[in-house]
Amino acid sequence: MSNHAPSLSHLRKHHGDFETMCTQMQQSAAIRFDPVWWGVWQQYIAPCLPEDGHVVDFGCGPGDLFTSLRTRHPRVRLTGVEIQPAMLVAARELAAQLSATIVEADLTQPLPLADASADVAAAVMVLHEMPNPLHALGEMWRVLRPGGALLLYDWVRQPLQTYQSMRTHPEQEGCELDVDVLQHFREHCAYTPDDLVFLAETTGFAVLEVIGRVNNGFAMLALARPG
Ligand SMILES: C[S@@+](CC[C@H](N)C(=O)[O-])C[C@H]1O[C@@H](n2cnc3c(N)ncnc32)[C@H](O)[C@@H]1O
Repeated sequence: MSNHAPSLSHLRKHHGDFETMCTQMQQSAAIRFDPVWWGVWQQYIAPCLPEDGHVVDFGCGPGDLFTSLRTRHPRVRLTGVEIQPAMLVAARELAAQLSATIVEADLTQPLPLADASADVAAAVMVLHEMPNPLHALGEMWRVLRPGGALLLYDWVRQPLQTYQSMRTHPEQEGCELDVDVLQHFREHCAYTPDDLVFLAETTGFAVLEVIGRVNNGFAMLALARPG
């Protein structure tokens, strides 16, 4: 039996209240999975996905990516990997409507998914939450088949002032930086796009393209496991 307690404790510090975080993810899903996301998906990821292939979403949260995926790829198998209890409840509710499977598992440990069992995968806003991103990327690489593709999307480094203005309510702009903003700055702004490329290539991925998003506060990486 795996022990998820260390990862849940790490997440509790990063996310605060689990239910609130889950609602925030649901409310902001349309911003992440926007036309640019689907353009990159169509160009780099969808060509590696057979009609009845398998998609894994690592750190799927409430599972919102699955709604559009089911419409675009009606016959594929959809699997989400998640650990946080409130996210699991929401993801399972949605998965029941979309014929998806949610696997309760910890990305900091070996995952209960077979080698080379996924054609394509996504990891959205999850890598920065990993104490050891190389382990998580290594698991994603292992689960993807040779020739498969991964769409990685995450925060990237930006100046503290820019980060603060993104996170602060407009009415509060100009007030002192609080401990919460500074803590999240350290977590969200740890890596540059080049660092993400370095981590991906160190794992064995080929980097197909890097796309900056939202004034370069985020980056999207189209990655392939060489065939
Ligand atoms: C910022 S949320 C993004 C959720 C989803 N990908 C989306 O974009 O809507 C990051 C997700 O990764 C999950 N996560 C973080 N650490 C994890 C771990 N060790 N194992 C499994 N899931 C994890 C969190 O619980 C959370 O649901």
